[in-house]
Amino acid sequence: MLLKTPTLFINFKTYKEATGQNALKLAKICQDVSIELDVCIAVVAQSVDIRLITNNLKIPVFAQHIDPIVYGHYTGHILPESVKEAGAVGTILNHAENKKSFEFIKKASLRAKEAGLLLMLCAASVNEAKKLVRLNPDFIAIELPELIGGNVSISEAEPRLITNTISTIKKINKRVKVIAGAGIKTRDDVRKALELGSDGVFVSSGIVKVKNHKEAIYELASAFKSFK
Ligand code: G3P
Repeated sequence: MLLKTPTLFINFKTYKEATGQNALKLAKICQDVSIELDVCIAVVAQSVDIRLITNNLKIPVFAQHIDPIVYGHYTGHILPESVKEAGAVGTILNHAENKKSFEFIKKASLRAKEAGLLLMLCAASVNEAKKLVRLNPDFIAIELPELIGGNVSISEAEPRLITNTISTIKKINKRVKVIAGAGIKTRDDVRKALELGSDGVFVSSGIVKVKNHKEAIYELASAFKSFK
């Protein structure tokens, strides 16, 4: 399945409900809803779960992180080429839960591109987004760290953060897509983020941590219907 925008990105993080066999089960539900509603959904999985998902499904998978290393003597690191070979289409970097220095992000971004991976860089402010867009990513994800995992969404609490990020980024590089995340739980949160001009949303607990995964994915994905 091709990655198209607007996109519903679902971050599996290291939640038990989205690890190992559970990652495969959840990704399958994401794929079913994606096909049923004709909405692009991509999952952001732990590196060790990527191959399990891509061997069984066609949904686009992103890695949660890569390291700025090459083949060789780097025990314990995540090699961009391994992630690509496991079937990932892209990687994220600098998530609020895994912040890195600019130098690290710069080197890792270069390696992601050399390995043929799409690149999503996460930012916590307009200023950080402005700095990161110079690295020419495919996506900038804007997420206010204090809203992550909570019940108040970025679209509701900080709509200007989304619009300011979009206008700043597009002035520098029109090609870069802006994704909004943090606290997104409802169809209205998604609709508002898309109305504000974002190219998709980045969601985790609102899907992974609910009882009925299909219902939650369906609810959020259905908000995309009028934005295609
Ligand atoms: O990567 C997306 C994530 O940080 C948002 O988390 O739980 O607020 O949807 P959550």
